[in-house]
Amino acid sequence: VIIAGTILIVVVALFFAEFIASSTAPAPEAEPVSETSYADRVAALLVDADPVNGEALSQQYGCHACHVLAGENVAPPFAGVATRAAERRPPMTAAAYLYESIVNPAVYVVEPYASSMAQDYAQRIPDGDMGDILAYLLTLHAE
Ligand code: HEC
Repeated sequence: VIIAGTILIVVVALFFAEFIASSTAPAPEAEPVSETSYADRVAALLVDADPVNGEALSQQYGCHACHVLAGENVAPPFAGVATRAAERRPPMTAAAYLYESIVNPAVYVVEPYASSMAQDYAQRIPDGDMGDILAYLLTLHAE
């Protein structure tokens, strides 16, 4: 009885420890991704996309309020973003990562910044504009 009681107490204690750990643990790692994540969607958006117009649009949609082209601000600078995008969530492509960063910014939050991007760009930015913005960001390679 004593052994059974001890085992029971240990099991209950482990259960509570696990419960407390899981309820206070930070959000789980971003979903696993593959090289095909968003691939079809992004490929469709990039057909006939215009990076020059995309630069103007990124001003128009207010992206530059937080993302200055170079230099630290409240958000990672856009300079070199295409190069970094390819390395952020491998094997996700740079284009897919950039797309996800705009339409679903909370999925992956770049350290040490706070997640402050609006969550509704997918609704606010029509496909044509989204393609142009993606094409623009994809031109911004690190030197
Ligand atoms: C209110 C400020 C704010 C605005 C406006 C904003 N962003 Fe962001 N953005 C951030 C912050 C902060 C991060 C880094 C934290 C994160 O990953 O959410 C970020 C991250 C990103 C990243 C990932 C950068 C990297 O180095 O991995 C991309 C791409 C991006 N934003 C694109 C855009 C585009 C395009 C727009 C306009 C449609 C925009 N953002 C508007 C604040 C903003």
